[in-house]
Amino acid sequence: MGAGLNHRRQLETYLAVYNEMKRSVSLKKHLVLIFLWPLLLAACQGDGDLDLARNASQELSFPPAPALSEADVALGQQVYAENCAACHGADLEGEADWKSQNEDRSFRAPPHDASGHTWHHGDDILIEAIRLGGARLPANIGGTSTMPAYADILTDEEILAVLAYIKSSWPDDLRRIQWEQTLREQ
Ligand code: HEC
Repeated sequence: MGAGLNHRRQLETYLAVYNEMKRSVSLKKHLVLIFLWPLLLAACQGDGDLDLARNASQELSFPPAPALSEADVALGQQVYAENCAACHGADLEGEADWKSQNEDRSFRAPPHDASGHTWHHGDDILIEAIRLGGARLPANIGGTSTMPAYADILTDEEILAVLAYIKSSWPDDLRRIQWEQTLREQ
């Protein structure tokens, strides 16, 4: 009975942390909570609820990707159409034959939908790409980029919105992978 009660308390703590994590919007807070998981999981060892703990832990080792705001996606779609579609395609599809370089060795604009590699990168790298454009690429990368720098053209809000629009085109599993990559890069 004593052990059962003890376990119940541990489970309650576990779920309380889980709920807190779901509520939390701060990335830093998420990361602090991640370190609590092994302790809480150890506390649950040997009990029938281990599966529950494991499932929760799998979810929790990386907190779920935050939902995209509809307002951001709508603003982003507009920003994209005005600033990015000419190169990256009206439907995020990229330039034809985008993996080849032009004769002058300039890169072609890659797709931002699931067929491209945008989702391989965490948010910080993508935000930097948008802010600095082709100027961010090292000289020895084997080609040039005409991607403009948007740091002085778009506000931070517009840059995040365009990213939200791009993310809204990805299936859930790619969204999750990109979100985990974003956390790993912190
Ligand atoms: C003049 C053409 C042009 C315009 C306009 C343009 N890009 Fe690009 N973009 C490129 C090219 C070419 C590359 C590939 C070379 C590189 O990475 O700089 C690229 C690369 C990128 C990358 C990094 C590659 C990736 O997918 O991982 C991001 C992110 C990106 N663009 C976002 C945008 C956004 C958002 C806009 C509009 C605000 C935009 N681009 C406007 C040409 C353009």
